[in-house]
Amino acid sequence: MEDVKLSRRFFLKSTGGVAAVAGATVIPIHNAQAAPSAAAGSTTLPYPRKAAAKVKSLPLNEAVNFTYPDEASPCYIIRMGNPVPGGVGPNQDIVAYSAMCTHMGCPVMYDGGSRTFKCGCHFSIFDPENGGQMVCGQATEDLPRIILEYDAATDTVHAVGVDGLIYGRQANVL
Ligand code: FES
Repeated sequence: MEDVKLSRRFFLKSTGGVAAVAGATVIPIHNAQAAPSAAAGSTTLPYPRKAAAKVKSLPLNEAVNFTYPDEASPCYIIRMGNPVPGGVGPNQDIVAYSAMCTHMGCPVMYDGGSRTFKCGCHFSIFDPENGGQMVCGQATEDLPRIILEYDAATDTVHAVGVDGLIYGRQANVL
Protein backbone atom coordinates (compact mmCIF):
# COMPACT_ATOMS: atom_id res chain seq x y z
CA MET A 1 0.00 0.00 0.00
CA GLU A 2 2.83 2.27 0.81
CA ASP A 3 4.15 1.58 -2.61
CA VAL A 4 0.81 2.65 -4.09
CA LYS A 5 0.78 5.94 -2.09
CA LEU A 6 4.29 6.64 -3.13
CA SER A 7 3.36 5.88 -6.67
CA ARG A 8 0.34 8.21 -6.52
CA ARG A 9 2.43 10.88 -4.85
CA PHE A 10 5.10 10.35 -7.41
CA PHE A 11 2.49 10.42 -10.17
CA LEU A 12 0.88 13.63 -8.87
CA LYS A 13 4.25 15.27 -8.42
CA SER A 14 5.27 14.13 -11.83
CA THR A 15 2.11 15.31 -13.56
CA GLY A 16 2.17 18.56 -11.61
CA GLY A 17 5.73 18.97 -12.66
CA VAL A 18 4.79 18.29 -16.25
CA ALA A 19 1.92 20.75 -15.98
CA ALA A 20 4.27 23.36 -14.54
CA VAL A 21 6.73 22.73 -17.31
CA ALA A 22 3.93 22.83 -19.86
CA GLY A 23 2.72 26.09 -18.36
CA ALA A 24 6.18 27.48 -18.42
CA THR A 25 6.52 26.37 -22.00
CA VAL A 26 3.23 27.89 -23.11
CA ILE A 27 4.07 31.33 -21.79
CA PRO A 28 7.30 31.73 -23.75
CA ILE A 29 5.59 30.45 -26.90
CA HIS A 30 2.86 33.03 -26.41
CA ASN A 31 5.49 35.69 -25.82
CA ALA A 32 7.52 34.43 -28.76
CA GLN A 33 4.52 34.94 -31.03
CA ALA A 34 4.20 38.52 -29.87
CA ALA A 35 7.94 39.20 -30.05
CA PRO A 36 8.41 39.45 -33.84
CA SER A 37 5.99 42.32 -34.25
CA ALA A 38 7.43 44.11 -31.24
CA ALA A 39 10.99 43.55 -32.44
CA ALA A 40 10.28 43.87 -36.16
CA GLY A 41 11.94 47.26 -36.39
CA SER A 42 15.09 46.04 -34.68
CA THR A 43 15.86 43.02 -36.87
CA THR A 44 17.98 45.21 -39.13
CA LEU A 45 21.01 46.88 -37.66
CA PRO A 46 20.75 50.66 -37.85
CA TYR A 47 22.89 52.63 -40.26
CA PRO A 48 25.31 55.09 -38.72
CA ARG A 49 25.01 58.81 -39.44
CA LYS A 50 28.37 59.91 -40.78
CA ALA A 51 29.59 63.25 -42.13
CA ALA A 52 30.64 62.71 -45.74
CA ALA A 53 31.69 66.21 -46.84
CA LYS A 54 31.24 69.95 -46.49
CA VAL A 55 29.42 71.25 -49.56
CA LYS A 56 31.80 74.17 -50.07
CA SER A 57 34.73 71.72 -50.11
CA LEU A 58 33.27 69.55 -52.87
CA PRO A 59 34.74 70.21 -56.30
CA LEU A 60 32.36 70.31 -59.22
CA ASN A 61 31.98 67.10 -61.25
CA GLU A 62 34.73 65.25 -59.39
CA ALA A 63 34.37 62.15 -57.26
CA VAL A 64 35.61 62.46 -53.68
CA ASN A 65 36.37 59.36 -51.63
CA PHE A 66 34.85 58.53 -48.29
CA THR A 67 33.79 55.32 -46.57
CA TYR A 68 30.34 54.21 -45.48
CA PRO A 69 28.80 52.51 -43.56
CA ASP A 70 32.21 51.30 -42.31
CA GLU A 71 35.86 51.73 -43.17
CA ALA A 72 35.83 48.64 -45.42
CA SER A 73 33.29 50.14 -47.81
CA PRO A 74 34.75 52.73 -50.22
CA CYS A 75 32.33 55.29 -51.66
CA TYR A 76 32.29 58.38 -53.82
CA ILE A 77 30.42 61.62 -53.26
CA ILE A 78 29.96 63.97 -56.24
CA ARG A 79 28.59 67.46 -56.70
CA MET A 80 27.18 67.10 -60.20
CA GLY A 81 26.55 70.80 -60.80
CA ASN A 82 22.92 70.43 -61.78
CA PRO A 83 19.92 69.08 -59.87
CA VAL A 84 19.59 65.31 -60.11
CA PRO A 85 16.89 62.93 -58.84
CA GLY A 86 17.55 62.28 -55.16
CA GLY A 87 20.31 64.88 -55.01
CA VAL A 88 20.84 66.81 -51.78
CA GLY A 89 22.44 70.12 -50.87
CA PRO A 90 21.54 73.70 -51.74
CA ASN A 91 21.22 72.79 -55.43
CA GLN A 92 20.00 69.18 -55.03
CA ASP A 93 23.03 68.09 -57.02
CA ILE A 94 25.04 66.00 -54.54
CA VAL A 95 24.92 62.21 -54.76
CA ALA A 96 27.00 59.35 -53.42
CA TYR A 97 27.56 55.72 -54.38
CA SER A 98 29.49 52.64 -53.42
CA ALA A 99 32.79 52.54 -55.28
CA MET A 100 32.60 48.77 -55.74
CA CYS A 101 31.21 47.44 -59.00
CA THR A 102 28.17 45.24 -58.55
CA HIS A 103 29.52 42.67 -61.01
CA MET A 104 32.59 41.35 -59.20
CA GLY A 105 33.58 44.11 -56.83
CA CYS A 106 36.27 45.92 -58.81
CA PRO A 107 36.63 49.62 -58.01
CA VAL A 108 34.72 51.90 -60.36
CA MET A 109 36.27 55.19 -61.47
CA TYR A 110 34.43 58.41 -62.18
CA ASP A 111 34.83 59.88 -65.67
CA GLY A 112 33.91 63.55 -65.56
CA GLY A 113 33.80 63.78 -69.36
CA SER A 114 31.00 61.26 -69.77
CA ARG A 115 29.70 61.88 -66.23
CA THR A 116 29.61 58.15 -65.57
CA PHE A 117 31.28 55.57 -63.36
CA LYS A 118 33.32 53.06 -65.33
CA CYS A 119 34.61 49.70 -64.21
CA GLY A 120 37.90 48.73 -65.79
CA CYS A 121 37.55 45.01 -65.12
CA HIS A 122 34.71 44.17 -67.52
CA PHE A 123 33.66 47.62 -68.68
CA SER A 124 30.39 48.15 -66.86
CA ILE A 125 29.16 51.75 -66.83
CA PHE A 126 26.88 53.36 -64.24
CA ASP A 127 25.02 56.66 -64.31
CA PRO A 128 25.28 58.78 -61.13
CA GLU A 129 22.71 61.24 -62.42
CA ASN A 130 20.11 58.49 -62.54
CA GLY A 131 20.43 56.67 -59.25
CA GLY A 132 23.57 54.73 -60.19
CA GLN A 133 21.71 52.95 -62.95
CA MET A 134 23.70 50.30 -64.80
CA VAL A 135 24.06 51.56 -68.38
CA CYS A 136 25.96 48.70 -69.98
CA GLY A 137 28.46 45.94 -69.28
CA GLN A 138 28.58 42.76 -67.27
CA ALA A 139 26.94 44.11 -64.11
CA THR A 140 23.25 43.40 -63.66
CA GLU A 141 22.62 45.63 -60.65
CA ASP A 142 22.80 49.39 -60.21
CA LEU A 143 25.51 50.86 -57.99
CA PRO A 144 24.35 50.95 -54.37
CA ARG A 145 23.32 54.49 -53.61
CA ILE A 146 24.36 56.15 -50.37
CA ILE A 147 21.41 57.96 -48.83
CA LEU A 148 22.41 61.50 -47.93
CA GLU A 149 21.01 64.30 -45.79
CA TYR A 150 22.07 67.92 -45.92
CA ASP A 151 22.46 70.03 -42.79
CA ALA A 152 22.27 73.65 -43.92
CA ALA A 153 23.35 74.95 -40.51
CA THR A 154 26.75 73.29 -40.82
CA ASP A 155 26.87 73.01 -44.62
CA THR A 156 27.53 69.30 -44.14
CA VAL A 157 26.28 66.31 -46.09
CA HIS A 158 25.78 63.22 -43.95
CA ALA A 159 25.51 59.62 -45.09
CA VAL A 160 22.58 57.94 -43.34
CA GLY A 161 21.87 54.74 -45.25
CA VAL A 162 22.42 52.62 -48.34
CA ASP A 163 19.93 51.76 -51.07
CA GLY A 164 21.15 48.49 -52.58
CA LEU A 165 23.43 45.73 -51.40
CA ILE A 166 27.13 46.55 -51.28
CA TYR A 167 29.15 44.03 -53.29
CA GLY A 168 30.30 40.97 -51.36
CA ARG A 169 28.04 41.51 -48.38
CA GLN A 170 25.04 39.68 -47.03
CA ALA A 171 24.05 42.81 -45.15
CA ASN A 172 25.30 46.36 -45.57
CA VAL A 173 25.77 46.93 -41.84
CA LEU A 174 27.99 44.22 -40.39
S1 FES B 1 33.82 43.83 -61.88
FE1 FES B 1 32.99 45.59 -62.84
S2 FES B 1 32.27 44.86 -64.74
FE2 FES B 1 33.10 43.12 -63.81
